[in-house]
Amino acid sequence: MRTLPLLAGFGLAAVLAACALEPPAPPPPPPPAPPPTALEAFRRAHPYDDAKRWFSLEVTRSVVTETRRRIRFEKEAVTAALAGHGGGGGFNAAPMRYAPGTVFVAESLDAAGKVLDTEVLVVGPPDGRPSFLLFGPDGAPRETFPQPNDPPSGPRKGNVPAVCLGCHEGTSYFDPMMSFPAEPLARRVVVDPRCRDEVLAGHFLEGYHRGGRLFGPYGAMWLAKIRSDARSGAVLEEDRPYYERLKERFPDLVE
Ligand code: HEC
Repeated sequence: MRTLPLLAGFGLAAVLAACALEPPAPPPPPPPAPPPTALEAFRRAHPYDDAKRWFSLEVTRSVVTETRRRIRFEKEAVTAALAGHGGGGGFNAAPMRYAPGTVFVAESLDAAGKVLDTEVLVVGPPDGRPSFLLFGPDGAPRETFPQPNDPPSGPRKGNVPAVCLGCHEGTSYFDPMMSFPAEPLARRVVVDPRCRDEVLAGHFLEGYHRGGRLFGPYGAMWLAKIRSDARSGAVLEEDRPYYERLKERFPDLVE
């Protein structure tokens, strides 16, 4: 009767010994990383979250989406357009020319700031059409752009890029960009206050000349910001190369 527990004891010891000798099982390989979404791939090529190289502003209630909208432009691209500006002022100002391939990003946001979709304008050849991209909240490309004034049956399927071109190539003007730097009550531009300069906005009149088929007066905003920083001796280290180039082109505007 007593042999059984004894044997069982030996058995356990043998198992324990075997365990100690077994090399530990290698950890399972990590699951392969999911392939980047189309938006992630786009973002790697155009890292618009990098605040040192990209500037951002918001529209409180865009006429396009009736949501908050965050707009990003690349400081380098706007500096180059300003440096190459063809001159003239007001209604006779040359349009702001952006290099073909220059990217502008607009993100529709919900009230909490979550990105609902990402809209991209890629500048085309001089006097040519821009191209447009749309990404959904999952980062996948979208072919249909819903808008607040769609009929009850919804937007026409596959309306991108025609719907984007319809506005961007059209001649309608929209607030709040049209009135910048004045602030209409219903739709406002939320931007660093140093970007608001009535004289510069009126000088380039970008919303009227629509260089690159853009709506926003990004040249005036950026030059105003750099000039204001220069005057208060507070040009950021990362903005210094842009300042140096702008100073050369606009000695009377930037000091
Ligand atoms: C109803 C007219 C309208 C339509 C349709 C439209 N846009 Fe725009 N877009 C605007 C206006 C106006 C602005 C200026 C910012 C604002 O008020 O939202 C703008 C701004 C932008 C900007 C920032 C650069 C700029 O022009 O100032 C991008 C990028 C953009 N739109 C992309 C798109 C894409 C992509 C589509 C199609 C999926 C599209 N837009 C459709 C009117 C339109």
